[in-house]
Amino acid sequence: MVRIVVDGREIFVDEGKSLLQGCLDHGIFIPNLCYLEDMEDPPGSCRMCFVEIEGMNQPVVSCKVEPKPDMVVNTSSSELLRLQRTSLRLLLSNHEAKCKACPSNRRCILQELVKRFGVRIRPRRYDHIDREVAEDIEHPLLQIVHSRCILCGKCVHVCQRQYGSPILTYARRGIDTIITAFGDVEAMYALCETCLACVEVCPVSALLLREPSGAIEIPADGSPEATIPCGGATP
Ligand code: SF4
Ligand code: SF4
Ligand code: FES
Repeated sequence: MVRIVVDGREIFVDEGKSLLQGCLDHGIFIPNLCYLEDMEDPPGSCRMCFVEIEGMNQPVVSCKVEPKPDMVVNTSSSELLRLQRTSLRLLLSNHEAKCKACPSNRRCILQELVKRFGVRIRPRRYDHIDREVAEDIEHPLLQIVHSRCILCGKCVHVCQRQYGSPILTYARRGIDTIITAFGDVEAMYALCETCLACVEVCPVSALLLREPSGAIEIPADGSPEATIPCGGATP
């Protein structure tokens, strides 16, 4: 166990765990959108989990930090709040927030963070960037709503965990990056039919089960059986 001090409180975290996970294990809230506990090398892409560490001259993302003995950590300050608000606004600036039509509505990590950080779900400070992608994912069972995807990478991670060589992967670069499927359609069907871990892990209902007709399955009650938004890692 490693002894650290977070917000003036002494805690002991398991060796090998990230600072973010160590804090979450002790009920200390740090916002996070692209992290899962079993990630060995989290992408660190959402830029929400900033903390300040004594001796470091700038905030760092806690999912990428290994706790060191007697580390002194601060999880809330006006500077951290400013950074986290900016990260959230940037992320929302290319997220199509049509909440009423979204299966995640009312149990959505983005809605929760927007409330917590006092940010608009459609931020005014940044131009909205449309991520309309013409082509659909080439997968017999899955459909992706690209305009809703926040590129958290959780689906790619769980897919890799299941199969080693993932079916879901990133395509394109920069602002055009999307999640797509790669492989033989019959193999995808056989592997994915009993798995669907990616659908379960997607925090914003961007990955959905395809209906036999090919349409996106969004039941009127907003609670599709196969869509279980899990949000960020929580204490
Ligand atoms: S994921 Fe759905 S419920 Fe959440 S902010 Fe986006 S559109 Fe709204
Ligand atoms: S499809 Fe969902 S889980 Fe995958 S990167 Fe997009 S938001 Fe994240
Ligand atoms: S950058 Fe740490 S959880 Fe996303």
